[in-house]
Amino acid sequence: MTRIMIIVGSVRPGRVGLSVAEWVRDRVQETVQRDRHGGGDAASIDLVDLAELNLPFLDEPHHPVKKQYTKPHTVAWSERVSAADAIVLVSPEYNHSYSPALKNAIDFLFTEWAHKPVAVVSYGGASAGTRGVAALDPVLSTVGLVKIAANPEINFIGSKMVDGVFQGDDKLAGTVAAMTTQLIETAEALTPLR
Ligand SMILES: Cc1cc2nc3c(=O)[nH]c(=O)nc-3n(C[C@H](O)[C@H](O)[C@H](O)COP(=O)(O)O)c2cc1C
Repeated sequence: MTRIMIIVGSVRPGRVGLSVAEWVRDRVQETVQRDRHGGGDAASIDLVDLAELNLPFLDEPHHPVKKQYTKPHTVAWSERVSAADAIVLVSPEYNHSYSPALKNAIDFLFTEWAHKPVAVVSYGGASAGTRGVAALDPVLSTVGLVKIAANPEINFIGSKMVDGVFQGDDKLAGTVAAMTTQLIETAEALTPLR
């Protein structure tokens, strides 16, 4: 079974990111159930809300490649990411880049990310957060994450919120379904490396 971790990249009060991530999680779950084989689910989902996780700014004295963690929050984050086979980042665009909370959460670890497929669900204004995705790319490859092709993009995010709840459409759901299939297939293919 592929364990898919969905990370909510925004932490600010009034954010839309959590609702977007919950909608994505439900679509991923639908795809997993649709593609069930032999009576079992092909994947499980761990939704990580960085606001709830509440990591401080990186406060470890050693480079994470050494895994000489000194803080309980780092050990817990390391164990949680280690348990994942595939990663989905739900990422807002802030000033033509991505969220600092996401960068901080990635920087805390290193080998825990390696050889895992990653997809970015981006959102923003006219550009749908795609400049943030471009800024993320070198960071993802540096820690050994393997980006898949599907990139669900949500433009004009503000117009797709009703009473604080994200309203996705069928087209986006189709892209998230394709993303889910690609994540599972790639996670399986990368298993020997992990
Ligand atoms: C600090 C900040 C910078 C932003 N910069 C951009 C930007 O460069 N491009 C864009 O399309 N939207 C930008 N926006 C609008 C966000 O896409 C929009 O507020 C979105 O809801 C942010 O995600 P969040 O609510 O999950 O935090 C910015 C918003 C904030 C708060």
